[in-house]
Amino acid sequence: MSTWQLLLEGIRWRWVFLTSLGALLLIQAIPVGRTNPPVESDVGAPAPVAAILRRACYDCHSNETVWSAPQSYVAPASWLVIRDVRQGRRELNFSRWASYDGRRLARKVKEIQDQVNRGSMPPRLYLLAHPEARLSDADRAALVAWASGLKVASASQP
Ligand code: HEC
Repeated sequence: MSTWQLLLEGIRWRWVFLTSLGALLLIQAIPVGRTNPPVESDVGAPAPVAAILRRACYDCHSNETVWSAPQSYVAPASWLVIRDVRQGRRELNFSRWASYDGRRLARKVKEIQDQVNRGSMPPRLYLLAHPEARLSDADRAALVAWASGLKVASASQP
């Protein structure tokens, strides 16, 4: 490569670097919704189960999300976090527990057992950033036992 080519190459890479940096800075200005709406009705599980839910599920399935840094604050990672919380709350929100009744409640309760048994919750990517949310076999058993108890209660309702 000639000196001239090397110089051009250098300019090109500097340009790529600076535009990427600029884009990264610009997207930080896009407003995002890191909300924590009021808790309407907490799930009210027994203390040991409540502790597991809070540790492993509440960031996405409650209105008490701990928006941890840096991933919740730096775009584009924050977009993924916020999307997870929005979808998670929509599917299952332990802060709106009393709004589920009858068949809907029975379905949520069954889903909790399925997801926990399959080990698909909490999501793997989340566990990378939150190793403390990992469920032990005992945690899983406690959650499933609790949920199956709820299912009986809801099924016995008229
Ligand atoms: C990182 C965020 C996150 C965490 C933490 C998390 N979830 Fe989820 N969960 C989601 C998202 C997003 C969905 C909806 C999309 C999907 O199914 O993947 C979901 C879906 C679910 C569903 C399906 C609801 C339905 O009606 O289909 C259940 C049940 C569930 N999660 C239970 C749990 C439990 C129990 C925990 C804790 C042990 C947990 N999740 C932890 C993000 C999370």
